Amino acid sequence: MGVLKVGLVGCGKIADANHMPEMLSLGKNAEVTAMFDIQKGKAEALAEKHKLKPKFCSSLDELLKSDIDAVIIATPNLYHYEQTLQCLNAGKHVLVEKPMASSVEEADEMIDLAEKKGLILQVNQSLRFSALHRKLAELVASGVIGKPLHARCLRAATSSPDVGWSPGATWFVQKKFKGSLVTDIAVHMADLLQWCFGPVETVMSQTTNLSHEVPDNVVALFRYKNGATATLELSWTFPIGGNKFEIYGQDGAILLTNDSIEIYKKNAKKPKVIKFASIKAVPNSHAVFAASVEKGGNENWKVGREALALCMAIIESNQQQKAVEPKMRKTTSKTSVKSPAAKKAIPAAKKSTPAKKAAPVKKAAPAKKAAPAKAAPVKKAAPAKKAAPVKKAAPVKKAAPTKAAPVKKAAPAKAAPAKAAPAKKAAPVKKAAPVKAAPAKKAAPAKAAPVKKAAPVKKAAPVKAAPAKKVAPVKKAAPGQGRAREEGR
Ligand SMILES: NC(=O)c1ccc[n+]([C@@H]2O[C@H](COP(=O)([O-])OP(=O)(O)OC[C@H]3O[C@@H](n4cnc5c(N)ncnc54)[C@H](O)[C@@H]3O)[C@@H](O)[C@H]2O)c1
Repeated sequence: MGVLKVGLVGCGKIADANHMPEMLSLGKNAEVTAMFDIQKGKAEALAEKHKLKPKFCSSLDELLKSDIDAVIIATPNLYHYEQTLQCLNAGKHVLVEKPMASSVEEADEMIDLAEKKGLILQVNQSLRFSALHRKLAELVASGVIGKPLHARCLRAATSSPDVGWSPGATWFVQKKFKGSLVTDIAVHMADLLQWCFGPVETVMSQTTNLSHEVPDNVVALFRYKNGATATLELSWTFPIGGNKFEIYGQDGAILLTNDSIEIYKKNAKKPKVIKFASIKAVPNSHAVFAASVEKGGNENWKVGREALALCMAIIESNQQQKAVEPKMRKTTSKTSVKSPAAKKAIPAAKKSTPAKKAAPVKKAAPAKKAAPAKAAPVKKAAPAKKAAPVKKAAPVKKAAPTKAAPVKKAAPAKAAPAKAAPAKKAAPVKKAAPVKAAPAKKAAPAKAAPVKKAAPVKKAAPVKAAPAKKVAPVKKAAPGQGRAREEGR
């Protein structure tokens, strides 16, 4: 059994809040052996904070030449595409931040290349690795509220991420770096809604740029193939923050509170309350990634690709002022990726007992389950025995829409990789625009509510396997920053 050696590209806020803690939670089975950030000081500060001794590289090229098996890409959105191609072309598995790319075409090119090379490509859609959100999707799929009718989701913040989340990270609000509220938060919440209700049929939206050059307020209306609808309301400019998540069905409703899931049956006097603390933890994103590198994966990119398609549909609908269909990927893998490079033995993540709190923010779901959302739970209304209802969700009629005609079309898709060649484009060291970003030390500003949610940290450490040396990291336990982050603003 070997150690998975990982290179980290981009050593900012999400690397500190999520990637490092989750990597450390893997204990001796994985190690961050190299780091590259266009601001070298940020890599050094991150390594020091997490007590790591990686090789500090001055370019992505240099990092790729070091002794690593995989790369975590946690840079501004603009770079995800080109850096992923560069890493895949160098034979490295990739865990890339959301949004996985800036267009579905770019995303498909990345996926095609990963499949051609037999490498794992996973997107860090953090809510997919959160026990709380998995539970929500499972509840809907179980039929507890009957036929899904409607969901409402509000995520309102009083400032953009360059103020509250990662002070100084102005790329979040700049067009040229592909920042925007859509790719920042809708990418999570539209995905969560789809996880609960299944495939989206159409999207209608209105986005506005009130205080920034990119959309900073978003309203989207989704219609799902099962007939349900959902509204998504997001803001970076509200006077007060707010979070709401409500799901209505013919027989009841599910409401999310700060510390629990409340299930209201139609004529019951009281709701059934499921405390976050009682929800069983699931493997975090990095544990799933590591296990996939070892054993082979199955479309680890899928939820990231679908989330991106929903984001693009939101943008397109606003531009065209009409309902649009999200461009889901038409082709699917021929087979699971059995990475030839998977020589490292990374034990499947062990499930830790749920922490007392913030279960929400945390852990992940195994990659294989990652592509659930096909919903139409209605028909399956009473899948009592099914452990992972979400996964099976695919309604009979719509069944396999995704897997449908994939094989045939699969071939043409590969043409794309050709473009990948421009590996040189990658990581232009000089582009450092976002460089202003505050150093790691500022990471925990007063506002940073997310920090508070760090509470879940204690529970986090899904993988207790942690060896003696890395025991420390356990404290930072997988934050599953997704929700924490949104609530923090
Ligand atoms: N999964 C989640 O819930 C979640 C949460 C927050 C952010 N993110 C994503 O993570 C990514 C990074 O976000 P962040 O909050 O850490 O931003 P950040 O600005 O805090 O960190 C980005 C880091 O990348 C470095 N960098 C910039 N250009 C680079 C390049 N070309 N090569 C190497 N390093 C470069 C910057 O110096 C900075 O240290 C974004 O894509 C964002 O959307 C995901």
